Amino acid sequence: MYTKIVNLNKDDIEADKALKEAGELIQKGKLVVFPTETVYGLGANAEDGKAVTKIFEAKGRPQDNPLIIHVADFEDVDKYAKNISESAKRLMQEFWPGPMTLILEKKSIISDVTSAGLTSVGVRMPSSRIARKLIRYSGVPIAAPSANISGRPSPTDIQRCIEDLNGKVDYIIGGENCEFGLESTIIDCTVNPVCILRPGAITLEMVRKVENNAYIDPAIMKKSTTEFKPKAPGMKYKHYAPKADVKIISGDLKKTIEKINEIVQNYIDDNKKVGIMATDETKDKYKNASVISLGSRNDIYTIGKNLFETLREFDDQKVDVILSEAFSEEGFGVAIMNRLNKSAGFDIINV
Ligand code: TXA
Ligand code: MG
Repeated sequence: MYTKIVNLNKDDIEADKALKEAGELIQKGKLVVFPTETVYGLGANAEDGKAVTKIFEAKGRPQDNPLIIHVADFEDVDKYAKNISESAKRLMQEFWPGPMTLILEKKSIISDVTSAGLTSVGVRMPSSRIARKLIRYSGVPIAAPSANISGRPSPTDIQRCIEDLNGKVDYIIGGENCEFGLESTIIDCTVNPVCILRPGAITLEMVRKVENNAYIDPAIMKKSTTEFKPKAPGMKYKHYAPKADVKIISGDLKKTIEKINEIVQNYIDDNKKVGIMATDETKDKYKNASVISLGSRNDIYTIGKNLFETLREFDDQKVDVILSEAFSEEGFGVAIMNRLNKSAGFDIINV
């Protein structure tokens, strides 16, 4: 399949033309990759089961993993969801447009393929200007998972979308950079109190200011087992996994550095190439490995933003193993550690 690729410049008239063209393609049942403030999405018309089926095929995504839909305006939510609780309305008022997806009762206009047969649907109103223009031009709700091949780290850069999906989709739009770099916070609003199914940039603390009994699905910080089965179907799959083996070294920072250097030495003796996910504060303390800093430990948002791209960069470098420092599990750190734990398959060394 021929994929048209455009990288939009800010405030460009050409951008509007391209988004209009892409919106029309979505309306016609085609696949369009576009940026959002979280990660890039792979979009299709959520009302059109045939179009949505192509998303699953392009990504190699299991059919039982539902997609979320994207809307541009508050009025649209009522068209696709019903029995919307007061809690959900308060959350929308507070955090939309932005990196938050609400699970609501689905109306039948949304294809069952989109919701993987569930009676609920995830709805998000992104803040990205490109995403919202695209949704408006398409005139339909856009179903969009992250624009990666299933299992790989989500793309936060157009180049990564091209790598994964060139030839499998009709259009790839680039332009805005993904401000948060990790996928949206998912909140189940079909239950009371509301429950966070996937942590993201809208943190538990922020949600509790609106809904003080909100809690995080206890299964998501644990290795998925029959005992701890996450409520969001997608959270049970192996995910965010680069080709290299990922290990997390967790505990006191000084001991972490010592441990990482010790492990590196063992791998070097085995002729293995090692990548280290470090921070600005520690990056000069490592030897004999490829070191990438995610940013300063004082700026957790930059660390989140760089996480997926760094995992992919280490794949480009063809390292055999990635050793990562751990981060404190508070605020946005919960989302970072959730993604990191999953990419490591919960391979954690405590020091
Ligand atoms: O930031 C984001 O949310 C990005 C951008 C593109 O908007 N999208 C995204 O979609 O991360 P995806 O498909 O990669 O992740 C959606 C997650 C999956 O884990 C899926 O299982 C869960 O949402 N999900 C979707 N519908 C659900 C539902 N009705 N109930 C529970 N979980 C649901
Ligand atoms: Mg995804």
